[in-house]
Formats: sequence, structure tokens, C-alpha cells
Amino acid sequence: MSYQAGRHFLQIPGPTNTPLPVLAAIAKPTIDHRGPQFGKLGHEVLAGIRTIFKTEHPVIIYPASGTGAWEAALCNTLSPGDRVLMFETGWFSTLWSRMARKLGLEAEVIPGDWRSGVDAEAIGSRLADDKERAIKAVCVVHNETSTGVASGIAAVRRAIDGAGHPALLLVATISSLASIDYRHDEWGVDVTVGGSQKGLMLPPGLSFNAISPKALAAAKAAKLPRSFWDWEEMLAINDKGFFPYTPSTNLLQGLKVAIDMLHEEGLDSVFARHDRAAEATRRCVRHWGMEIQCRSPAEYSSSLTAVRLPEGHSADNLRAEILERSNMSLGNGLGPLADKVFRIGHLGDFHDLMVTGVLTGVEMGFRACGIPHRSGGVDAAMAYLSGNAGPVAQAAE
Ligand SMILES: Cc1ncc(COP(=O)(O)O)c(C=O)c1O
Repeated sequence: MSYQAGRHFLQIPGPTNTPLPVLAAIAKPTIDHRGPQFGKLGHEVLAGIRTIFKTEHPVIIYPASGTGAWEAALCNTLSPGDRVLMFETGWFSTLWSRMARKLGLEAEVIPGDWRSGVDAEAIGSRLADDKERAIKAVCVVHNETSTGVASGIAAVRRAIDGAGHPALLLVATISSLASIDYRHDEWGVDVTVGGSQKGLMLPPGLSFNAISPKALAAAKAAKLPRSFWDWEEMLAINDKGFFPYTPSTNLLQGLKVAIDMLHEEGLDSVFARHDRAAEATRRCVRHWGMEIQCRSPAEYSSSLTAVRLPEGHSADNLRAEILERSNMSLGNGLGPLADKVFRIGHLGDFHDLMVTGVLTGVEMGFRACGIPHRSGGVDAAMAYLSGNAGPVAQAAE
């Protein structure tokens, strides 16, 4: 396609728009990853990233997308044939369970409706029935990116403890880290999986495992084959600020700046900004007369909203029209939601005018595609945004 004037609106639910200071840091010359300058950077990012996961324990940084860190979480803590209990929140939880099976694990999935979050009670009762303690880990997705549903992780921890079960708790926070409050230590998570390309405002290419002492102990006995993903060698050399293989040097330069930016704004303000963008978006969607994919307001995601189109209308045609007309990318429906929903990403480096710009682009798309809606949704968003300077976010427990 020939040049389109104006900045592209990258409003998929990640990768997100990378802010200029982060881009500038990434564009600096690559430094020697075994030299003293890198050692300093390594220490800074390895310490800094702990503050984002809210953990005092180590966080591993891989030069990989989130899928790699999913695999690392499983293969460092589990052995062939181990049973893992997973909850079907949508496309990403499904992919994680498929991966577990490919790795030789017995993945037991509690079915879900792709419109709700993790049912902690169902997890608790399954664990209570597991008298032989065959289940070695519970794996859940904090923010299901395919549906825009955020689950309560503290409740899952309480369910595991309530059943008196020793299973590890593994959580993917790929589309919630640095957008929605997340507390690795306080919520008793054993391995948290994260990625660089969403709330952290970096391009894709880095992913994370935050590790509890219990997960580290499990790794000593875990027998799934691993080499590239192995925590042990990584942790030993991370102590000195270095990596066992060539890290993503330039992305780490960007990560340092991104972490500083998040703290300069303040994590609570970052979460409140996401809450505000999400609420404005939902008010607009309701005004249009469209349905939000997430059923329960208590589980609304602050990083994205999945919108269901009326029967007989194609979400993919709408997205194509909006891309062509307004130079804006929106997220597609995944799996069974293909062509039925579109997803608005409102996460990362994002402010009020971008919210209204995005919603304007969607409403223009409805008009162009002849999709029935009540016009003026953007007004509903503006009314909310102009009267709402930004409450402090409440933790989703
Ligand atoms: C919740 C969730 N888990 C896992 C993934 C997979 O991560 P990646 O595409 O970075 O490999 C994604 C990607 O969007 C995601 O949103």
C-alpha cells in the first residue's frame, strides 16, 4: 500500500504503540553483551522488572515472545506425564493447554464459555477431589486477550490453599502486566509469565518468568527436557548482570526506559489510566447498542474490550474498512469468535484523545459498512472522560 498520511493507530491488544523515548533507547548502538556497560544495564533491568511484577524474587528475561515464556514455565517446573489443571477462558488458555499436551503433560481443562473468567470455586473443588495429589500445577490466564475478560488471581490462590493442595500456581499475565494491577508475591503465584509488547510498551521480543521460591525448588526435581529455557544457568549468570546467551540487547535498553517511565507516572496511575480508557470504551459500546463479550462487569478487562457485532455482519470486513479508511488496526476474533467480534486494545502508551480517536474510527467504520448502531457513542465516552480525572485503580482480587 502507498503512503498513508498521519500516524497509524495500532489498537490491537498488543503489540502496542511504542513511545518515542523507548524507541530512541532501542535505536542506540548495540553494546557488547559481555562488557561492563552491559553488566550495569543487566542489573538495572533485572532489578527493575521485579518492581513491575511486584516480587522480591528473581524474574528471568528471555529473548522470545510470550509463547516461549509459557513453555519455560512448564518445562522448568514439571515432569513428563504430570497432570496440570487449566481453565478455558478463551483462545490463549486453549493454546497453553495444547502446548502442555505437546510437551507430554496431562492437561485437564475445566471448560468455560469464552465470556467469563476463571471459576476459582471449580478449581478448588477439583483440587479437593484430587486425593492422590496427582495435579502438579494450576495454570490460568490473568487477562484473556481473546475475550477481554480478567480473572481474579488471589481467588485462585485462596481456592488452592482452601483445598490444602500443594499444586503450583502458574499465571500468564501477558496482556495485563503494567496495565492491570498484578501482585506476584502477594497473590502467591509460583510462576508468572509476561511479555514485552503490551503494557510494557516495547516491541515484541522479550518475555518473562517471575519465579517463587517454591517454583525454584520444584525446578530442582522437574524432569521435562529443557536447555534454552533452563532457569538454573540463567539465574547463575544473571547474578552478575549477564545472560548465558546473546540477549536482546537493544530491547533491554528500551526496557530500562519503559520501566522508568512506568514508575515516573506511578503504577497506580498507569492502572487508573487503563481503567478510565476501558470504561469510556464500554460506555461508547453500550451507547452503540452493541454487546461486550465479557459478561460480568466484575471481570471487565482494562486493557482491551471485545465487541460482538450484530448477527449477519462481518467483524473482519469492518476491520478491513477501518484500516483502509482510518489507518487503524483493530484486533480480530480468534478461534470460534473469528469474524464475530473485534477487539479494541486500549493499553500501553495511550491517553484520552487516543480513546476518542479510536472510537471515532470505529463509528465511522459502522457507518461505512452499514452496521446498525445508535450514533453518538463517542459523545458518551467524552462525557465520561471529561468528568473523570482518574480514580485510583482498585486491585482485581
Ligand atoms: C494472554 C496471552 N497469552 C499468550 C500470548 C502469546 O504470546 P506471544 O504471541 O507473545 O508468543 C498472548 C499473545 O497475545 C496473550 O495475549
